Amino acid sequence: MLTILANAKINLYLEIVGDRPDGFHELVMVMQSVALCDRITLTPLNTPNTRIECDHPQVPTDASNLAYKAVTLVQKTFPNRTNQFGGVEIHIEKKIPVGAGLAGGSSNAAATLLGLNMLWNLGLTRLELQELGAQLGSDIPFCFVGGCAIATGRGEEVASISHTPKLTVVLAKYSSLSVSTPWAYKTYRQRFEQTYQPIGDRATLEERQARIRSSTMVKALRDLNPPTIGNYLHNDLEKVVLPAHPKVAQLKETMTAAAVGQGGLGTMMSGSGPTVFTLCELPEQAEAIAQTIRQQISDLDLQLFVAPFTAYGLRKED
Ligand code: C5P
Repeated sequence: MLTILANAKINLYLEIVGDRPDGFHELVMVMQSVALCDRITLTPLNTPNTRIECDHPQVPTDASNLAYKAVTLVQKTFPNRTNQFGGVEIHIEKKIPVGAGLAGGSSNAAATLLGLNMLWNLGLTRLELQELGAQLGSDIPFCFVGGCAIATGRGEEVASISHTPKLTVVLAKYSSLSVSTPWAYKTYRQRFEQTYQPIGDRATLEERQARIRSSTMVKALRDLNPPTIGNYLHNDLEKVVLPAHPKVAQLKETMTAAAVGQGGLGTMMSGSGPTVFTLCELPEQAEAIAQTIRQQISDLDLQLFVAPFTAYGLRKED
């Protein structure tokens, strides 16, 4: 039996560059792990079954669960190991909100792959785990890298930015509200396709990726310059998610106002939403901002979390 702690992520930057022939979108993102984690416990079974248990009612425990899909992928890729080791039970203790733009499902799948690599002695390197994870979801490779990273391609090409800034976020999400990621990208495409530049060949793509590496945001992350990080937060998906969900737009406004005078550096939606976050330098500032938001929005459906940035996507529990 072994337990992996799987951290959530936020997007400090998400730019949609264009369509891809595979139906996905070409992205340029800056991702950051935050210390809000699910606890994934893998227990070997003698029978060849896969069993998922989760303490959160919105999480499916059937074959549609990403952790379940991770087991199936490993069984398909390593049939001999499965015959040798049998099945596995995966218990998911959920803290990361579901359907939130925080990579909750992706982090659970990544934790499952990492856990099976240990449990079944698969001998996979981190890069091989990233490649396997990419077959299941675009955000999964980042979970193996963790910390602060640039993600390009459909999100699966991940390059670390050397340091993780010492910042803290306030995360806010209406518990009963989820946004479908395919819907967000599809709607963005319908509205903004005409603004896409042709993606071009590999050289053009590499040039664009070089542009993000020398961008103000990435420089600010490398120089550990919090005010500039806060000023350059960006997420193209806000353009479709906020108009479709006025409650989330209102939440962002409330958080932006609460940040003023309390040390908030910037406020932005994460991924395809609907989680909105505010960056702060100090945990006390984040707590004060969270308290102000709670006073202004008395809705019990609103979940608030305060979480520091962390250098890890996944960690084995001692
Ligand atoms: O890769 P993942 O399963 O997380 O993506 C969920 C959905 O989000 C995809 O099916 C696709 O509709 C959309 N997506 C996209 N371009 C990306 C990543 C995701 O269009 N780069």
